[in-house]
Amino acid sequence: MSLKIALGGKGGVGKTTLSSLIARCIAHLDKENKVIAIDADPVSNLAAALGIDESQPITPVSELSDLIAERTGAQPGTMGGFFTLNPKVDDIPDRFSLERDGVKLLVMGTVQSGGGGCICPESTILKALMNHLVLARNEVVVMDMEAGVEHLGRGSSGSVDALIIVVNPGKRSRVAADKIRKLGQDIGIKRILVLGNRVTCEEDKEIIASSMSDFEVIGYLPEMPEIVQSDRDGTRPFDDIATAPQALFDVTQKLMALNN
Ligand SMILES: Nc1ncnc2c1ncn2[C@@H]1O[C@H](COP(=O)(O)OP(=O)(O)O)[C@@H](O)[C@H]1O
Ligand SMILES: [Mg+2]
Repeated sequence: MSLKIALGGKGGVGKTTLSSLIARCIAHLDKENKVIAIDADPVSNLAAALGIDESQPITPVSELSDLIAERTGAQPGTMGGFFTLNPKVDDIPDRFSLERDGVKLLVMGTVQSGGGGCICPESTILKALMNHLVLARNEVVVMDMEAGVEHLGRGSSGSVDALIIVVNPGKRSRVAADKIRKLGQDIGIKRILVLGNRVTCEEDKEIIASSMSDFEVIGYLPEMPEIVQSDRDGTRPFDDIATAPQALFDVTQKLMALNN
């Protein structure tokens, strides 16, 4: 199965939590599904959400200096000069990911740069890797994005099945959602959907539905006490994913149907 989805939204709405749960659900629903979860938000921690052991620190792809130098022909940290713009990256997902429960985690990391237009060895590798993951692999890719979906370049975004904007009930989500939709449209993402999260009652759903009336809402997920508790305990929620609420599986199934 091939499916590429990106989760965006304001900080704290649940992107990382839901990326991990959706990735695990997809892997659980069909063991044949190969699932790659991408941590593309430097301020979050998808590894912890997936319950992946971090006793050995995970080196983000952007910090694999030797590899970057070898593949691009230029030392990271340098700018200008000559280096290849289409480095080999196809072995990176398998070599540098960590796996648990059928979900492979790949941590992208950040590029210290002087602006969005910067072309340096690190950004070249990340861009090539994103393109490879979205365009060339017959797998499920779930991307936990930073609010601005910066990592998705124009090259690959046209092939993303959907950008899922996670929102919580409340007016503030609207402003953020508009911004993210604009960014998504600008880079050519074709389908942009809203996923309501932390819904506690019918009124919450109505708040989201009415404030987002020009968005297609793919579903609503409830406030889950298990998630709050696991946050307190520092564990991943739903250690046995089969015990997660039906609503999560319903949303996952709708997302799986988006592939074309
Ligand atoms: N459906 C939910 N029910 C309860 N708590 C949730 C839910 N979704 C997210 N949270 C909590 O909200 C906080 C922010 O979630 P997180 O996934 O880190 O957001 P983001 O990645 O968008 O910044 C975390 O403490 C998380 O445990
Ligand atoms: Mg996050």
